Formats: sequence, structure tokens, C-alpha cells
Amino acid sequence: MGDPDQHQQPGSGEGADDLPGHGDVGGGDALQHGSHGPEGSAVRRPGRSGRLRGVIRAVESLPVRLTVRDLEPEDLPGLSWSGGPAHLRVVAESWQRTLSEEVVLLCVEAGNGQLVACGGLDLVKEPQAGELWMLSVHEAWQSLGVGTLLIGALEQEAAVRGHRRVQLSVEDDNPRAAALYRRLGYRPAGRREESWPLDDGTLHRTTTTVLRRQL
Ligand SMILES: CC(C)(COP(=O)(O)OP(=O)(O)OC[C@H]1O[C@@H](n2cnc3c(N)ncnc32)[C@H](O)[C@@H]1OP(=O)(O)O)[C@@H](O)C(=O)NCCC(=O)NCCS
Repeated sequence: MGDPDQHQQPGSGEGADDLPGHGDVGGGDALQHGSHGPEGSAVRRPGRSGRLRGVIRAVESLPVRLTVRDLEPEDLPGLSWSGGPAHLRVVAESWQRTLSEEVVLLCVEAGNGQLVACGGLDLVKEPQAGELWMLSVHEAWQSLGVGTLLIGALEQEAAVRGHRRVQLSVEDDNPRAAALYRRLGYRPAGRREESWPLDDGTLHRTTTTVLRRQL
């Protein structure tokens, strides 16, 4: 994870009046559960690059407008909270794959332009299912429904591109994320070895559980 000192707290900085702190949400009950798709109205509009983006008004009770849109290269500096240089290089390389539409990368932007979440959908890794990966919500914005919103948007992208199933993988030491995925309908579909680069030049090797969901 990134340097905690770089974490920009909701409610601080420019546009702070638009931003919720955890206290503003009034506890988990204030957020609506149910279908885990985006719970606000969804509008399609062209983005800066002309590619369509989903503009999604988030959960009614969250007093901030969140926009789900394509990640662009100029967004990378605003994602330093999501990981170190090695992680950001992977994101940058993944962005290259959006050009051939093998991959969709989405981010969630708050009203003041702060990026609060990002995640990817790999459309070709598995023939059977779209693969969600690199899901990350800014620490100060977790447990507000942002991850649920992002996952719903990525699932929508998978469905639009013809996938009838989606999957993701989770490490054994991340039970909270696993519980969220289970709650969203994901079910175990096997185990696999994975690795990704760390900032010290080594590879983090791990065994993950693959979770799958029918769209
Ligand atoms: C895992 C992760 C992506 C989930 O995103 P998130 O925004 O925190 O997830 P959500 O807020 O949608 O849901 C999680 C929590 O909010 C609660 N919640 C979400 N929407 C809610 C709603 N509408 N009403 C009430 N509660 C809600 C859930 O009950 C859940 O509770 P918990 O904190 O006790 O687990 C995020 O926490 C994260 O980035 N973690 C660090 C990196 C990571 O682990 N990535 C995943 C790797 S597989």
C-alpha cells in the first residue's frame, strides 16, 4: 500500500464541503444494500478521450457525487495512495492494454477531482469469465459503498462486452474483502498461484482463492 502520509482525508482540501467523512454517513445503516449494482441513476456520456464513461450518482445517502469513469494516464499520480511505484507501473502497463480493449480500467472520482477508487476488468485472461482485479478504494473512503459501486460498474462493463460471468481472486489474509465479495454473490471456484512485483524488485508470491459470479 502507499505511504499513509500521502492519504488525503475526505473533508480536507479543496472542495471539502462536498466530501463525506465516515461520521457524515451516519453508520453503515445509512447506506442502502440490496442489489449491488450502482444504486443511483446511471447516465452515459462521452469522456475526454471520446470513450464512453458511466457517470453514476452514488448511494442516495452519501452526500457527494461520485463519477465512475475510464482511468486515463494523467490520473496515475492521483493514485499514489493505492500502491508504490511498482504497482503504478503495473497500472500504467495495464492502461496500454485498454487501447486494444483487452482491459477496462475504471476509477471513481469525487466532486473535487480526488480519485477515491480504481479497479480493472481483464476481458481476455479467462475465456469463461471477465476477471476483476486491482480493486482498490482509498483507505479514508472504505466501508462507504464505494467498492460495491466500483464492482457493479466493472460487472456492467463485463456484461456489455458479452461476458456472462465475472471472477476475481482474494488472498487468504484478506477476509474482509472476501466477505464483501461473498455478500455480492461471488462463490469459490478454485485456488491459484499469483505473483506481483514489489518496490524492492522482488515478487510477492501468494496463493489466492478464485471467486466467481454469474451475471
Ligand atoms: C476491499 C475493498 C476494495 C472494498 O471496498 P470498500 O469501498 O471498502 O467496500 P464497500 O464499502 O462497498 O463494502 C465494504 C463494507 O462497507 C459496508 N457497506 C458497503 N455498502 C454498504 C451499504 N450500502 N450499507 C451498509 N453497509 C455497507 C459493508 O457491510 C462492508 O462492511 P465491512 O467494512 O465491515 O467489511 C477496499 O476495502 C480496499 O481497497 N481494501 C484494500 C485493498 C484490497 O484489499 N483490495 C482487494 C484485493 S482482492
